[in-house]
Amino acid sequence: MWLSKKNVIQFSETPAIVDANIGEKLIAVCINSKLDECEMETNGTKLMRLSGKVAVVTGAAAGLGRAVASRFAHEGAAVVAADINVQDGNALCDQLRAKGLDAVFVKADVSQECEVNALFDTALARYGRVDVLYNNAGVLLPGRDRSIDEISTETWDYVMGVNLRGSFFCARRAMAAMLRNGGGSIIFLGSPTGLVGCAPELTAYSTSKAAIMGLTRTMAVAHARDNVRVNSIIPGTMDTPMNSYILADPAVRERYREAVPVGRLGTPKDVEGLALFLASDESSYCTGGLYMCDGGLTAI
Ligand SMILES: NC(=O)c1ccc[n+]([C@@H]2O[C@H](COP(=O)([O-])OP(=O)(O)OC[C@H]3O[C@@H](n4cnc5c(N)ncnc54)[C@H](O)[C@@H]3O)[C@@H](O)[C@H]2O)c1
Repeated sequence: MWLSKKNVIQFSETPAIVDANIGEKLIAVCINSKLDECEMETNGTKLMRLSGKVAVVTGAAAGLGRAVASRFAHEGAAVVAADINVQDGNALCDQLRAKGLDAVFVKADVSQECEVNALFDTALARYGRVDVLYNNAGVLLPGRDRSIDEISTETWDYVMGVNLRGSFFCARRAMAAMLRNGGGSIIFLGSPTGLVGCAPELTAYSTSKAAIMGLTRTMAVAHARDNVRVNSIIPGTMDTPMNSYILADPAVRERYREAVPVGRLGTPKDVEGLALFLASDESSYCTGGLYMCDGGLTAI
């Protein structure tokens, strides 16, 4: 249950079964300070928000994708995790399976159409359907992605190839599968850099993210009556490997932190809940939306 941790009186490092009065029902709740170990039961049935769904998560080996793939699996989804980083992607899925969860790793470079096709063929052969796409794989090339007078064609093509073409290839295959299912949820990753000119040195990255948000709205309207919902999450400055190069300098890190109204950088955990909401049936009236998850950065 969403609010179960707010209803129990205390948290415990050790899992414990307690009775809690939530709404009208007396249910047994397993509390633990770590959400991913929290299991909730009523009449022996686990209440998980993605039970029975199959979710493809790209860029699942690190950062936001890793956290979301793990959260989806803990919420009952069968997760097909894709990345170019075979070692970390396999390690994640091994960890999830060791907990009895359903996850499989598929090596796929999303910028290569044939690899995206193989990814979706694998997901469909294994599970027969795709209900959720967390369309997350992306690259940012600080130093190489530059202002328009300095950027090379190779850098432009590489960034567009992963961020835009890659997202497009995945979305197209996911949409075809979801139309056959009778519905689904596609979640893209936008960026404040695609909304406003806050990163003038990142020409390709910013442009790719602006296009992602256009693709979100276009797909959402085209398929609104097919029960396929399409939304974008717009993270702010997140403390992930993508930003490690930029945030390595403590003075720069402090500058970025200070710029965020809530006073801290974002973490992968901050995105998980929103991704879960958009993936689940609880967001059934939400499509074509751009959802800020930026600590107020773009509200200034
Ligand atoms: N971190 C931020 O501050 C931030 C802000 C706004 C938007 N985003 C977006 O969120 C998404 C995730 O960002 P992150 O911070 O977790 O990034 P990250 O660099 O920490 O992780 C990205 C993952 O994508 C994988 N990847 C890279 N190229 C790939 C390819 N061609 N095919 C398959 N996988 C590939 C990487 O191996 C890595 O595992 C990206 O689309 C990014 O643009 C991030």
